[in-house]
Amino acid sequence: MATFTVNGEERTVDVPEDTPLLWVLRDELRLTGTKFGCGVAQCGACTVMMDGTTRRSCVTPVSAVEGANITTIEGLDTPESQAVLAAWEALDVPQCGWCQSGQIVSASALLYEIPDPTDEDIDRAMAGNICRCATYQRIRQGIKDAAKALEA
Ligand code: FES
Ligand code: FES
Repeated sequence: MATFTVNGEERTVDVPEDTPLLWVLRDELRLTGTKFGCGVAQCGACTVMMDGTTRRSCVTPVSAVEGANITTIEGLDTPESQAVLAAWEALDVPQCGWCQSGQIVSASALLYEIPDPTDEDIDRAMAGNICRCATYQRIRQGIKDAAKALEA
């Protein structure tokens, strides 16, 4: 059993305490925007926000989120995420889309931390988010465009 807040709503789930948050989100709460890629914290597809920082939900047991504030792609609604979504749409960033909710969560968190990131900042922040469709150039451009829009 665990109780935590997801996208502003308190939720209680009755699952074994070592159940990964990813499966709680997808299977119990039907928030399927967060994706499974590798299951071992290597691809970033499962990235969510937990108490203001990014978190790989595939390796986060639900017991670790007791009382925490979780934001998934469905609930992401900050000036940074709005700018990222607008840039993603304008540049047609996604291909298959599988990695993209994790990319968007990480990109939004980066812009919150560093409003005007350099290429190095972007590479460092996004290194853990793998895209098998290799949309990396557009992701980088999208982050830069979003930063510019936020600055305006
Ligand atoms: S599914 Fe969590 S990092 Fe790959
Ligand atoms: S868009 Fe296909 S894995 Fe990134």
